[in-house]
Amino acid sequence: MKDIWQSRTSFILASIGSAIGLGNIWRFPYVCYANGGGAFLIPYLIALLTSGIPLMVLEFSLGHKFSKPAPAAFGNIKKGFEVLGWFALLIGFGIVTYYAVVMGWCFNYLGYSFNLAWGKDTQTFFFNQFLKISDSPMHIGSIQWMIVLGLVLTWIAIIASIWKGPNTVGKVVYYTVIIPWIILIVLVIRGITLPGAIEGLKFYLTPKFSALLDYKVWLAAYSQVFFSLTIGFGVQITYASFLPRDSDVVNNAFLVSFANNATSFVGGFAVFSTLGYYAQQTGLPVSEVVKSGPHLAFVTYPTIISMLPFAAGLFGILFFLMLLTLGIDSAFSLVEAGAASIIDKFKLKRIYVNIGFGIIAMLIGIIYTTRGGLYWLDIVDHFMNNYGLLVVGIIECIAIGYFYNHKELREYANSKSDFTIGPWWDFCIKFLTPIVVGILFVTNIIERIKAPYGGYSRFAEFLGGWLLIILFIIIAVFLFRTRRRE
Ligand code: PHE
Repeated sequence: MKDIWQSRTSFILASIGSAIGLGNIWRFPYVCYANGGGAFLIPYLIALLTSGIPLMVLEFSLGHKFSKPAPAAFGNIKKGFEVLGWFALLIGFGIVTYYAVVMGWCFNYLGYSFNLAWGKDTQTFFFNQFLKISDSPMHIGSIQWMIVLGLVLTWIAIIASIWKGPNTVGKVVYYTVIIPWIILIVLVIRGITLPGAIEGLKFYLTPKFSALLDYKVWLAAYSQVFFSLTIGFGVQITYASFLPRDSDVVNNAFLVSFANNATSFVGGFAVFSTLGYYAQQTGLPVSEVVKSGPHLAFVTYPTIISMLPFAAGLFGILFFLMLLTLGIDSAFSLVEAGAASIIDKFKLKRIYVNIGFGIIAMLIGIIYTTRGGLYWLDIVDHFMNNYGLLVVGIIECIAIGYFYNHKELREYANSKSDFTIGPWWDFCIKFLTPIVVGILFVTNIIERIKAPYGGYSRFAEFLGGWLLIILFIIIAVFLFRTRRRE
């Protein structure tokens, strides 16, 4: 029997859940602040309308039309494009191996929240006591067992959430989407009622219109949209393949994109109001306390939590619970997209695929639980998102724009939808998106030629970056060439 969503809401929530992740809280607010503050919303919105939503429509239509997960759907366009589908999934696989480790940290920090175990010096606590970070990626040192414990819990949660494919996912996402929204609202209210909050928000939103003249700001907007909507991983294609035949495409794409966008924007209020408070308490300027990524969640936020006037531990618990629920549906969407594709091609039993996938990805993740783990996490993250993902995006547009009757695909989407999209969509897919993403890709490559990423050695960069991408290409070709089981 074919897997299918029980309701439209299940599908929309699953798709939103995949899009909304840690990035909405620790990436968007920072990117926005660093690229013109409030003025950044203009390029962001334009990027969303000209690239994010068109690609979302593309992925939904493709999945819906062929009713197949990414590799098979691409294979229907032209046989060789199946490789692209597998490559996209492998990039997702590369990501989920470390994404789960970050969630493992969240599990640990959830526990630490009860007695604010991180103490006064949260930075030393995180880097030296918790991660026991070594001095370079080449010194990987011992495995940190508390992190492994968090990792195991994360994988149990991921596999349980996709146990029966869309049947289970469709139920789980009600919790993993709605709970973080509720917590986010609580955190926004807590944040904006703290002294100094306004100063923080001013930093976040004061528009610097001159930034709009900087092409880098526009590239940042496109790359944020791309990353944030979880497009280019085969996830949205696979999720749309579980839709019943008569369901809507275009509305759903807009809905998911705007919900994701709104969450990022609101997330900024929670983050920057709290940073304003932090700045006021410590006398530092806000510009010095804004950081993105793990530093924000595991160093700055714990410090602020400890400073809160009442129920500090409770807010710690809420914060890390929010990160966990935000992250898990992104993580399991990557796994589900992979699992569904393997089941589709090799006709294996879902239970074996789920468990096998979980165990392999978890074992690989152990690398990131070592003392050198954070360095590897950083390198792999950079390469997956800045090279792997962008390549998929470009080829995806070329595949549809030049090797397929894109007009027909648009008409197909329109025939299923309440409101329809015009030829502007063709323009975005054929020209605009591949060109902008192409420029993004080339600028990134030039930067890498000039200097290795993040000041690491060329060797470490090669191992965690290029080698991994080459390996994924080889595996993708191998999976493509393996015979399909009927
Ligand atoms: N869209 C997710 C976010 O904003 C990021 C993500 C991308 C997660 C790809 C998993 C895979 O956090």
